[in-house]
Amino acid sequence: MIASQRHLFDMPDDIAYLNCAYMSPLMKPVVEAGAVGMARKAQPWTVFPQDFFTDSETARGLFAQLIGATADDVAIVPSASYGIASAAANVAVASGQEILILAEQFPSNVYSWRELAQETGATLRTLQKGQDDDWTRVILDAITDSTAMAALPHNHWTDGSLIDLVAVGAKLRSVGAALVLDLTQSLGAMPFSVPAIQPDFMVCACYKWMLGPYSIGFMYVAPKWQAGRPLEQGWITRARSEDFARLLDYAEDMQPGARRYDMGERSNFALMPAAIQAMQHLLDWSPEAISETLGARTSDIARRAATLGLQALPDSARAPHFLGLRFPGGAPEGLVQRLAAEQVHVSQRGDSMRVTPHLYNNDTDTERLIDALRRLV
Ligand SMILES: Cc1ncc(COP(=O)(O)O)c(C=O)c1O
Repeated sequence: MIASQRHLFDMPDDIAYLNCAYMSPLMKPVVEAGAVGMARKAQPWTVFPQDFFTDSETARGLFAQLIGATADDVAIVPSASYGIASAAANVAVASGQEILILAEQFPSNVYSWRELAQETGATLRTLQKGQDDDWTRVILDAITDSTAMAALPHNHWTDGSLIDLVAVGAKLRSVGAALVLDLTQSLGAMPFSVPAIQPDFMVCACYKWMLGPYSIGFMYVAPKWQAGRPLEQGWITRARSEDFARLLDYAEDMQPGARRYDMGERSNFALMPAAIQAMQHLLDWSPEAISETLGARTSDIARRAATLGLQALPDSARAPHFLGLRFPGGAPEGLVQRLAAEQVHVSQRGDSMRVTPHLYNNDTDTERLIDALRRLV
């Protein structure tokens, strides 16, 4: 268990921020690293050609450590939607095949698949969760010889319901289908293993559970797709781009590994040092310990919310860091706004009130939430 790390955050005592699924706050050292990086651009004579590469490579290596891959497998992207679009430009989908997604999946992991289905004559099949709340069984049952791929999260962004990606990955491989993942609502707060799950593409925006800045994300690309087609044709992703004097010797070949998928201007001198700081903290704490710590807090909240008549998935059916509370008669009108007026911050998605803590929370925050719910529900 990790003790509350609130001292690392700029978070007044009277704020109960339980809304990491919306956006995490940045730690003070992360803000500091970003500020130092931003200030460098005020003095460009301090920015050297090698600086376009060093932080990018450090960040790739840290992200790779988080997921059990190598730096060569990691591309730098601005958003989940960019990574999903890169995956959609490369996966093999043919007419008559199926692309599987979940009902109420986050839009960044839907629209590219709609478009790909229209272009290829494939069917986009939206799976519905059954009464037993078991997404894994629904997905496993849906995978057939007609499945081209599945585009999934690790846990649903509305209520935290968990998917067994090891089982799903194995079944997809058994029929020759691909697995594309958007881990924006889990990576950093929950362990993830590339060797165990073997995704084809996996993308994660950094501004939630990675505790990083907005507009930076990372994408894992399996070795078999590393010779694929990037969305952009930039200069830095080409071979020998380190040699600025010879950039006009236009190169046909590319930087090795997944680097060909990097976004333009990926050497972001302000945001990349911030993302690096955040990942170093996550690795120091470890996703396992973060998950265990947040799991204890959400279980406690779920148990106490149940005494007020609010329902949640059983702990075993949801991601430890992610609690969705449901009201038997539907959510009271304006509840999230009334909680916010009392400085208790949560969010509503679908019919689920998301309570998503991180290490900045403490027991006082839990008390404030429960006390406010007792009065307002
Ligand atoms: C599951 C999921 N994916 C991705 C995003 C963000 O998408 P993008 O990076 O395309 O803005 C969110 C934001 O709420 C999300 O919940």
